[in-house]
Amino acid sequence: MSNQSTAHHNEEPKSPLSHSSAAVVLSTTSTISTADALPASAEREEAQATVKVAVRDLSIHYGTTTALSGVSLDIAANEIFAIIGPANSGKSSFLQAINRMDLLRHNMSVSGSVLFNGIDTRSWRNVYALRRKIGVVFPLPVGLPLSIYDNVALAPRLRGIKKPSLLDEIVERSLRRAALWDEVKDRLQALGSLLSGGQQQRLTIARALSQDPEVLMLDEFSIAVDPVTTMRIEDVLKELKQQMTIILVTNLVQQANRLAERTAFFLNGECVEVGETEALFEGQVQDQRTLDYLQGRFG
Ligand SMILES: Nc1ncnc2c1ncn2[C@@H]1O[C@H](COP(=O)(O)OP(=O)(O)OP(=O)(O)O)[C@@H](O)[C@H]1O
Ligand SMILES: [Mg+2]
Repeated sequence: MSNQSTAHHNEEPKSPLSHSSAAVVLSTTSTISTADALPASAEREEAQATVKVAVRDLSIHYGTTTALSGVSLDIAANEIFAIIGPANSGKSSFLQAINRMDLLRHNMSVSGSVLFNGIDTRSWRNVYALRRKIGVVFPLPVGLPLSIYDNVALAPRLRGIKKPSLLDEIVERSLRRAALWDEVKDRLQALGSLLSGGQQQRLTIARALSQDPEVLMLDEFSIAVDPVTTMRIEDVLKELKQQMTIILVTNLVQQANRLAERTAFFLNGECVEVGETEALFEGQVQDQRTLDYLQGRFG
């Protein structure tokens, strides 16, 4: 249960490298807000300069398999934070632990803590409410056998919104934010599963956005998407980060380079390092394995 590997990196700047400056900001105390309510706008503004998700000594096991060992890091409000690393490095498990998907998996055990807006996610009584705030987009679009409209309206309906004009508004806004509106506005009643792979991926993003999340996590969204759509979604993410925090797991290191302020490199369940993306790609690494991975020598 508690594999005691030491955390190699956390929020504290560890080296005199210039790229550690952002970490100083991140090491400040998190803004605390009530767990079940949206922060008021003033609090939201304050939160921008501070930590959105703080991960402390997080370890994940599946039975006797260690998926992640003692990871500590901070993710700032309104940043795109990338996680890169080869297969089986623990990236997806990390995302699942953040919005408490471990509750759905009988063999997954999590130790350590995840603070969201300064509050331990385990203290949220309503895990569905937590997952509304921390939305996730999976690698392969998991299309529901519903119309485009109903795919996006599903979650708002489940939380009790019935007024048609309000649902119309949420559906349109979510599809616009996912850069899909223009392509589907004339056939909202068509089945979502009839869309192309790239459109379905944007539909899943629209579905996540219908919840108005504070954090959006994406797990290798490009896997089933052509390069042109990938670039469109990247533009969407750059736009969305004005309003939310984005955690992006990607197997494309150049995608991290294009999008992320900071990048974490995971390898075999270890967070090898976290750094400013630009610095890492300039070769300012603390661990040679990071450079080897960035330069394509393995993985
Ligand atoms: N449901 C599960 N049951 C048992 N072991 C699992 C389960 N999910 C993941 N694992 C194991 O945990 C480790 C980390 O897996 P994880 O899926 O988090 O890695 P990843 O970095 O996302 O890999 P990939 O790049 O292939 O998606 C692996 O050894 C994997 O076999
Ligand atoms: Mg994965």
